[in-house]
Amino acid sequence: MRLTPLVVVANRLPIDDGVAPDGAFEWRRSPGGLVNALHPLLRHTPAAWVGWAGGTGPAPRLPDVDGVRMHTVPLDGDDLRDHYEGFANATLWPLYHDAVEQPEYHRRWWEAYQRVNQRFAAAAAAAAEPGGLVWVQDYHLQLVPGLLRELRPDLRIGFFLHVPFPPPELFMQLPRRAELLRGMLGADLIGFQRAQAAHNFAQLVTKVLGLPATDRRIGVGERVVRVGAFPVSIDTAEMAALAARPEVADRADRLRQDLGDPERVILSVDRMDYTKGIEQRLKAYRELLASGDVKVRDTVLVQVAVPSRDRVAQYQILRDRVEHQVGRINGEFGRVGEPAIHYLSQPFDRTELIALYRIADVMAVTPLRDGMNLVAKEYVAARADDTGALLLSEFAGAAAELGQAYLVNPHDLDGLKQGLLAALRATPEDVAVRMRAMREYLHRNDIHAWARSYLSALDQTGSLLRRLGPTD
Ligand code: ADP
Ligand code: F6P
Repeated sequence: MRLTPLVVVANRLPIDDGVAPDGAFEWRRSPGGLVNALHPLLRHTPAAWVGWAGGTGPAPRLPDVDGVRMHTVPLDGDDLRDHYEGFANATLWPLYHDAVEQPEYHRRWWEAYQRVNQRFAAAAAAAAEPGGLVWVQDYHLQLVPGLLRELRPDLRIGFFLHVPFPPPELFMQLPRRAELLRGMLGADLIGFQRAQAAHNFAQLVTKVLGLPATDRRIGVGERVVRVGAFPVSIDTAEMAALAARPEVADRADRLRQDLGDPERVILSVDRMDYTKGIEQRLKAYRELLASGDVKVRDTVLVQVAVPSRDRVAQYQILRDRVEHQVGRINGEFGRVGEPAIHYLSQPFDRTELIALYRIADVMAVTPLRDGMNLVAKEYVAARADDTGALLLSEFAGAAAELGQAYLVNPHDLDGLKQGLLAALRATPEDVAVRMRAMREYLHRNDIHAWARSYLSALDQTGSLLRRLGPTD
């Protein structure tokens, strides 16, 4: 095996198995914020990615992607059920998102979590050069830093959590809370999306493990573990360049015509997840239609909701409820050839997604809780002409940076309706001032700035970064 100086470890590989339109088997980019954030970064860098390729059974041998080596970690049916669908997505995920759904605790899931984390740690240990840098991602793999440090004390180890890290009163519910904190503390640097999360973590390590901690440094025996906020971003320039392509502009024109050339297009793009506030948003929209504040012929809502984690009960229930709600709203308020909501539950290629961003007069991003929300940033980057109003939840990590958005509390139905109307009725001048400020911010704070700030904090001597070369 060829060893590399930088190894990214994430639950998912950036490619997934899928079926091409002609029915043939193909590898395609997996959807989701983490992959879309990291993938552009590693191009042209001598790096490896350790992750799961989707599905169960023996690990397939995958081709390099843009020069990045793919190391597949296999999951069998029990691992998938108890680690990915169980401990990761039915225990940690709801707990870390304000327990908007009830987290479940099962001892069998914890055993699977440990077992799969050990497998990822072993794969990372086998892929990294002596003295290399390993960057572990997200809540599926919180034990990996600690396990990896035991296997390879020569490595610099980073951990980044893409999702929120909850306040102590919620985290304390976890039966295996001490082990999870200790696992993360195997890292040299622990990155969070927001300063509040770093603060929650520091409080917890003192409360649960009795360690001396500030929001920046934690003492673990002889070692100092550093902690900080590093809000993840997007490849802003790439997104702007794609949005400016003639084929995207053509596609956008056609889409607008296909929608009946309405005065206003509202767009939402989410994974089908109960954290994204889809039901609340649809309810607000229904009330605006019912009151006549919004009329179907003038305004259309396009809701993209790509199915996600669809074997987990809470996700199946949500999908049924959303589809029922959409059907009901269309039945009540649509006309022949003029649905109130255009509902699409398919993955799209980048061109289609960006064409949708281009036609959206209002982009409604209203999660109940979200680590960051890259869709909000992608929309801003795609609006080079400073048109377009971003309606953004206060509970998305992005709200800490995009303060010029129309901010709403998605739990407050009336506030959500008012926010939507304010965005729909905003003057072009107001929209432009806000959009320009957000675009300028994202040009300075893009994915490359994120990686530079995280990796330079992790590699304090700079020796590894010099070997890797530029990250942009
Ligand atoms: P999360 O990480 O919870 O999925 P984010 O908003 O941070 O949420 O990231 C979602 C990512 O997935 C974005 O980069 C977005 O472009 C992409 N995405 C969302 N819906 C689709 C879709 N239908 N087809 C393709 N990509 C999608
Ligand atoms: O950060 C949230 C996250 O779990 C990412 O790891 C991933 O990009 C995204 O959601 C999609 O989820 P999944 O990998 O479960 O399809």
